[in-house]
Amino acid sequence: MPVIKKGFDRLSRGSGNQNQDLPEDELCNSGLTPTTCFHGGSFFDVAGADFRGLDKTRTIICADTLDAWFPPAPRVVEVLREHLPWLIRTSPPIYAEGMVKKIAETRGINPACILPGAGSSDLMYLAFLRWLNRSSRALILDPTYGEYAHILKNVVGCRVDRLTLRREAKYALDIALLSACLKNGYDLVVLVNPNSPTGHYVPRAELEEVLLRLPPRTRVWIDESYVEFVGPDASLERFAATHANVIVGKSMSKVYALSGVRAAYLCAVRPVIEELKAMVPPWSISLPAQLAAVTALDCFDYYTQRYRQTRDLRGALTARLEGRTDMQIIPGTANFLLAHLSERGPDAATLVENCRGRGLLVRDASNMGCEIGSRAIRITIQDAETNQAIAKILTEALLDLNVAKTPSA
Ligand SMILES: Cc1ncc(COP(=O)(O)O)c(C=O)c1O
Repeated sequence: MPVIKKGFDRLSRGSGNQNQDLPEDELCNSGLTPTTCFHGGSFFDVAGADFRGLDKTRTIICADTLDAWFPPAPRVVEVLREHLPWLIRTSPPIYAEGMVKKIAETRGINPACILPGAGSSDLMYLAFLRWLNRSSRALILDPTYGEYAHILKNVVGCRVDRLTLRREAKYALDIALLSACLKNGYDLVVLVNPNSPTGHYVPRAELEEVLLRLPPRTRVWIDESYVEFVGPDASLERFAATHANVIVGKSMSKVYALSGVRAAYLCAVRPVIEELKAMVPPWSISLPAQLAAVTALDCFDYYTQRYRQTRDLRGALTARLEGRTDMQIIPGTANFLLAHLSERGPDAATLVENCRGRGLLVRDASNMGCEIGSRAIRITIQDAETNQAIAKILTEALLDLNVAKTPSA
């Protein structure tokens, strides 16, 4: 099995994609491209995207997106509540100058090295469409967050190679192999650290050492959406602010519990930030998002406590599930677990569907990589009581499906 898959890709499956079952060659020949990437969150499929079923937030367990199990810091909620009518009717600071200043202060980075965005997805599209074209070459991990394959292959249209991570190694990134791959002259290499859906984290110092030897034409985009869960000093933000060609993408969605307001930023050297900033429309980050982000960055103690709790909750859920013979748990370092289901039981799609009928949404992770197989699910950590309910529902669903699978004597 090759470790690097050259230019090979399986399509992301999306509900808005008319051609989702076409093999890649046919897709290329058809002149059509998939329009969206599949993402886990099926809450709005169940409850309605017109918000009519909002009461279902009380009964459905959403463990298929990686949104935080904890609420934003109390101060964030208070300040938004206090000023809500004004926040809704008022134009925000044009380029989120206050948010940039606060990020810079909190992270110890020059404000000129920060570009804020309305979610890191916003910044990904901005940067990749600026830097790359159809003749570019990119390298991504496999498995990894699905939007990267989608944007690179289907939106930019460039060649995408995949660096295969092995289940036997618990999906750890082999740093020597990465170092060798970087000599291939890619235009862009994307590293999600900690990675999703595996939760594997490459220590900062190890990555920095490799990144010091980058070829001049290669940019490395490090997605640190979950790095705060690892612990303090795990981020390469400051490194990115002083090393050309290294860009850190920081979502504030998951670690600050701000997915709904949309807030994120990039860290990179000043010329990179200036080039991208010129393409950002005015008022692109909403006023509630800017205020929420600035306030959240001041609530260090609250969030640190939540990260500790997340680690404990992850440990407890892992302990509950890992004795089972029908799944293997890859516990990781963030707010989720990856589980491989036994070959003898149902596949991920069947289990996910069954759990959905029981009010539990978990993510079928099969389409997050070419080698991960059809029996991988990703479960987002919740509070202790909900984790218990998750374990119970999984047990019942697997029992039900295994009984249904066993031929009667
Ligand atoms: C690894 C990773 N990067 C980026 C994103 C997008 O986050 P945002 O809400 O900032 O657009 C996600 C969302 O799940 C993610 O898992």
